[in-house]
Amino acid sequence: MRKPIIAGNWKMNKTPCEAKELVESLKPLVCDAQCDVVVCVPAVNFAAVAEAAQGSNIRLGAQNMHWKESGAYTGELSAAMLRASGVEYVILGHSERRQYFAETDETVNLKTLAAVAAGLTPIVCVGETRAQREAGYTDALVAYQTRIALTGLTGEQVEKIVIAYEPVWAIGTGLTATDEQANETIGVIRRAVADAFGETVAANIRIQYGGSMNPKNAHGLMMQPEIDGGLIGGASLKAADFAQVVHFER
Ligand code: 13P
Repeated sequence: MRKPIIAGNWKMNKTPCEAKELVESLKPLVCDAQCDVVVCVPAVNFAAVAEAAQGSNIRLGAQNMHWKESGAYTGELSAAMLRASGVEYVILGHSERRQYFAETDETVNLKTLAAVAAGLTPIVCVGETRAQREAGYTDALVAYQTRIALTGLTGEQVEKIVIAYEPVWAIGTGLTATDEQANETIGVIRRAVADAFGETVAANIRIQYGGSMNPKNAHGLMMQPEIDGGLIGGASLKAADFAQVVHFER
């Protein structure tokens, strides 16, 4: 069966000192976790977090990368740079990057291909806005985002990546999709994977829920059959809260 994966997305929070402190506090709280534990941190914190997490079960993730290997792309980071910094996971296509930094399904696809080629595990984000949900486009949209993001990968590559379903209206708003809504839409994403890559790949790929997930609602969401993990924003910034989500089964 699929091993759950709980990942923190720190977004633009924490200095290296604060990052070290947070990981040091987190380590003893999650050392017995039954799931994969990842923290996706600002790039300036890679060194501090890699050092603090060394020898622990906490894996390091990034929040973005460029798809080119190198070149004149001021301010950008390559997959090789991430790898060399101890990064194993990279969030791609987060709705905040789509909204504020003009990411498109096509650039998310280029980044996904580059990340996989470099040996990183992408966490590819898909999800609808409130207007799209109200207009009844959710299923078509998440299926389309998923299909484009994964274009050009083999089934063997796809089953090792992670998809995060993050309804935009649930991010940072305190609004969560109901357990059933999240489960249903993740089922739609899994069906899109099955249509493109076959049933086995769809049965193996891990799909997270993200959007105001916290210690209170994590258990209910994680008990849903389609939901294999969480991508946690606000609640990942406090060690105790994040640890409670990691221990969602309790
Ligand atoms: P919140 O948990 O703060 O709603 O953020 C979710 C998110 O965007 C994770 O990537």
